[in-house]
Order: sequence, then C-alpha cells, then structure tokens
Amino acid sequence: MSNSTKPKRIGILTAGGDCPGLNAAIRGVGKTAIVEYGMEVLGFNAGYSGMINNDYIHLKESQLSGILTLGGTILGTSREKPFKTSKNEKDGEHKPDRIVQTYKDLGLDCVVCIGGNGTMKTANMLGKEGLNVVGIPKTIDNDVWGTDVTFGFDSAVQIATDAIDRLHTTANSHQRVMIIEIMGHHAGWLALYSGLAGGGDIILLPELEYNIRSVCKKIEARYESNKPYSIVVVAEGIGHPKGSSAAAHVSEAIQTYTGIETRQTVLGYIQRGGSPTPMDRILATRYGAFAAQCIAEENFGTMVAIKNNELTTVPLEEVGGKLRLVDANFPLIQKARKMGVSFGDEYL
Ligand code: F6P
Repeated sequence: MSNSTKPKRIGILTAGGDCPGLNAAIRGVGKTAIVEYGMEVLGFNAGYSGMINNDYIHLKESQLSGILTLGGTILGTSREKPFKTSKNEKDGEHKPDRIVQTYKDLGLDCVVCIGGNGTMKTANMLGKEGLNVVGIPKTIDNDVWGTDVTFGFDSAVQIATDAIDRLHTTANSHQRVMIIEIMGHHAGWLALYSGLAGGGDIILLPELEYNIRSVCKKIEARYESNKPYSIVVVAEGIGHPKGSSAAAHVSEAIQTYTGIETRQTVLGYIQRGGSPTPMDRILATRYGAFAAQCIAEENFGTMVAIKNNELTTVPLEEVGGKLRLVDANFPLIQKARKMGVSFGDEYL
C-alpha cells in the first residue's frame, strides 16, 4: 500500500496503558518524519479506536513543539483491541475492516503504533490485513519481548524508588514492617529495580515463588539483629487470593505470623504519571526518530528495539503474544542475594 512517488503520509497512535515518554516518542517520529523526510503526519485519537472511528488530527511541526516534557499522551489512549471483539454486532461492522478502510480513505503509507505487548500483537495482525506498520515499545512494566528496554520504565523506577525511600524513614521511626505494592502486571522488573534502588529488604516477584514463612524468617532475623523495621517490596503480579491486593495479603500474613506491626501502601497509578526522566526522553526520542527512518526505508512490519544499547528492528511477527519476564538467574538477583536481600524463596 505504499506510493513511493509522493511524499509519504503516516499516522501515529498511542495504545494501551499510558506512561511517561509517549509525547517524546510522538515528537521524535513526527519531527523526523516532517523535517528530515517531508512526510505528512496524522495523529489518531485514543489508540486503535481512532482508526476504527476515523478520528484523527493533522500534526504540524509546530504542534510537536513543547510536548517533550509532558506526561501522558497528547493523542489519548485506550485499551481497544479490535481483533478481540472482531464482530461488533451493534454497528454490524468488523472493526479491523473499518481500520483498513480508514487507512485507505486517508491514503496512509504507514501507521506507527506506540504501545506494549497487546499493541504490538494488534499491529502485527493489521500488518496481515495489508497495512504497513511500525511499532515502538513503551510501558512501565518493561516486559515487551524483543527489546532490552521500553520507555516509561526508567520514570516509573524513579517514582517507585522515591516512594520506597520515603517509607524507610517512617518505618524506622515506628519500627514497623512496611509493605509496598509496585505495578508491573505479570513482570517483576519494576519491583526488582525500584526495590534494589530503594534498599528493600525483601522483594517479591511474580517470576519467583515466595513462601510467607521465609519472608517472616527474614523479618524476624532482622529484628533480632537490631533492625526493628523492614521494607517489603511486592510486585502486583505475585500470587495472592482474589479480592485482596498483593500488599494486603502479604501485610496481614506477616503481622499474623510475626506479631510485628505492619502497614501497606499500594502505589498505583502515580507510577504512570508525570514528566518522563531524561533517560526516557532520550530513549523515546531515539525510538521515534528511528521509526521515521524505518518508514522512509520501507522497513515495515517491524518493531524498533534496543539490543546492547544499539537501535535495531525485530519482526512484529516474533514479538506478538510474548512477554519478557525476569529470569530467576538474572545477575542482579544473584548479586542482591549475596548482599542479604531476600526474595522470599530462601527456605523453600
Ligand atoms: O501496563 C501498565 C500497567 O500500569 C500495569 O503495570 C498494570 O497492571 C496495568 O497497566 C493497569 O491497567 P489499567 O490502566 O487498565 O488499569
């Protein structure tokens, strides 16, 4: 569907949960596309919904100025999965068909899909419907398969680390066990990095099976060696009963078994808000500019990625439906264990 004689016309969308750096990525794609390659750029509103409903804006170069430091996304986002609800009985139209129609009606040469795993899966499926697509990986969870790092992660690590730092002082004053729940969906990257940066004593990750007795043993051992407070960092994705948060479950269990006073904090959406860190601004800018280059070179059906700090592309076909999780033998975990950090699995 590309026409190499005319300047290219491209669309950009941001889909899935938002994160800091989305605007930096939009700016990176848009400015490079316009300034370097003379392309025309449209922005779809609210992720794939914008393509289904033909809801878009023209993005001029001037509109891409002043957004680098802004959190959220100027295009809005949604968790619309067009292939999941493929037969929409209400309006009787197949959503992917409507997306293809929008693409054709607007005379697009490519759509840049900025998002996480779900977004990449949909982008790949749209590629199979005949659209030219380029993906850019974002998410605070850092779990997109095929790249070493997603933008949004560094900002979230900073926010979560700051929260853990603050818990240290109040935990110490009251001699309490503080449990903090960190986002990350099924992956433990955010809990691991913020937990280590914040000096957490116990870090529970979805990828490692924990035992509450082991957690309590560690807390009691600290108590006996004149460390009457502890910081327990729990990833939201760890095993816990339905109807209770991971933090509430671990907190209640620790208080029951040790008799030590506990308090819990669920950090929540604060981790996705606010201005991106300089590292995320740079990463999102690199990804965005490189995505525009991929379009110019007609390297479609790919996701831009970082491997060993080098920009590269991976076929979307390989990315879709996979998760990049923390490996139990990840060097950082091994180093932390040697320093006495517990992952709740020591006495299994
Ligand atoms: O993927 C980012 C994330 O914030 C996860 O860490 C979290 O589990 C999920 O999104 C929350 O989703 P929602 O925005 O739909 O509540």
